[in-house]
Amino acid sequence: MVQLKEKTYQATGSPRRLVHANMYASDFERSFDFYNQVLGIEETFRIAEDKVVFMSNGNTHHDLALVQVAKPGEGEESAGRVRPRQRPLQSGLNHFAFEMYNEAELVAAFHRLDGAGVGPLSLEDRIVTRSVYFHDPEGHGIEFTVDMLRNWRDYRKPGVTVDHKPYVPEEEPPKTETFINLNPEIRRVDSAPLHAKRAAHATVVAQDFPKLRKFYIEVAGLRELFMAPTGEFSVLQGKDYPGYSMVLTSASAHRQPGVHQIAFELVSPKDIEGAGERLQAKGVQVEYKIEHPKKQVVCFRDPDGVLVQAYCEAPDFVEGLQEMDPALALLLL
Ligand SMILES: [Fe+2]
Repeated sequence: MVQLKEKTYQATGSPRRLVHANMYASDFERSFDFYNQVLGIEETFRIAEDKVVFMSNGNTHHDLALVQVAKPGEGEESAGRVRPRQRPLQSGLNHFAFEMYNEAELVAAFHRLDGAGVGPLSLEDRIVTRSVYFHDPEGHGIEFTVDMLRNWRDYRKPGVTVDHKPYVPEEEPPKTETFINLNPEIRRVDSAPLHAKRAAHATVVAQDFPKLRKFYIEVAGLRELFMAPTGEFSVLQGKDYPGYSMVLTSASAHRQPGVHQIAFELVSPKDIEGAGERLQAKGVQVEYKIEHPKKQVVCFRDPDGVLVQAYCEAPDFVEGLQEMDPALALLLL
C-alpha cells in the first residue's frame, strides 16, 4: 500500500480524489444490506428520521451514502431542515463527491466553479466537513468536500445527529492544514464474499463527451491521465493521489447517457478468486468477470440496477491502456 505523507503546496482547487457516491435508493435498507453483505462495507452512521445511511470501512467517514427516494405525494419539506434539492421518486445518483486536501483547496475550487458561471446549489458546514454542491453540464450532482476534523469517528457513528449550517467561504481565513487521515486502518466484514477498501472511481456516459470532458478538466480541476486514441473515453485523476477518479465515455447505441458504473477497490486480489461462486451463493448474478494481468474485475448490479465493479489493479494499469484494445479497456476501466 502506498504510504501518503502530508504536503504543503499552493492551492489550485484541484480535487484529490473521488471520495464518495451518494445514491438515491428505492429501498435504502435493502441497498444497505447489499453493500454490507456483498461488498463488505460497514455502516458508519445514519440519519434514521431522514432514511439516509452512510457506509465505509475507514477509508473516510463515508464512501457511500444511500438515501431513500420519496414516495408519490410525499412532501419533501420537514421543519428546520435544509436540503440541496428535493428527493426524486426514482433511484439514481444524488451526487459524486470529490475530496479536497484542505479548506484552501475547497475555496479555490469554489471560486473557479463560481467564476465559470456554475453557480452553487448549496454550501454546507457540517462541523466534520465543509462542502459546496454544483451540477455538471449534464445535470449530475457533484460535491467538493473537505474534512475539518481528523477524529471523524467521534462524530460520525451510529446514533449521532449531524449538525449543519450554511458554509460561507472565506468568512474566516481558509485552513491550509489537512485533516484527512492519510493512512487509515481499513476494517473488514468477514462474512461478505468481497471486501471493499474504498469507493474509487465512477464511469459516466456523456451526452456531449467533448463538453463534459472539458468541464471536468478545466472547471472541476481533474487531470487527464489517458485519452483513448479512438476519442471514445477519457481517464481522469485527482491531485497527488494514485489511480484515477473518473472515466468519461461518449454515448453510443450500447451506452446510454448517465452513470454507467461505480467502482470499488478491493483489499486483496484473493477476493476475485472464486468470486462468481461466492456471489451466486448470495443471490448476486455476475455480469462479467475479467482476470487481466494488470487488473482483475468482477461486475454485478446493485438492487436498483446500478453496475458495480469490484476490482484490484496493478499500479501501472493505466500505462498499459495505450497498447490495449479500447473495448477491453472500457470493460476493465
Ligand atoms: Fe456527499
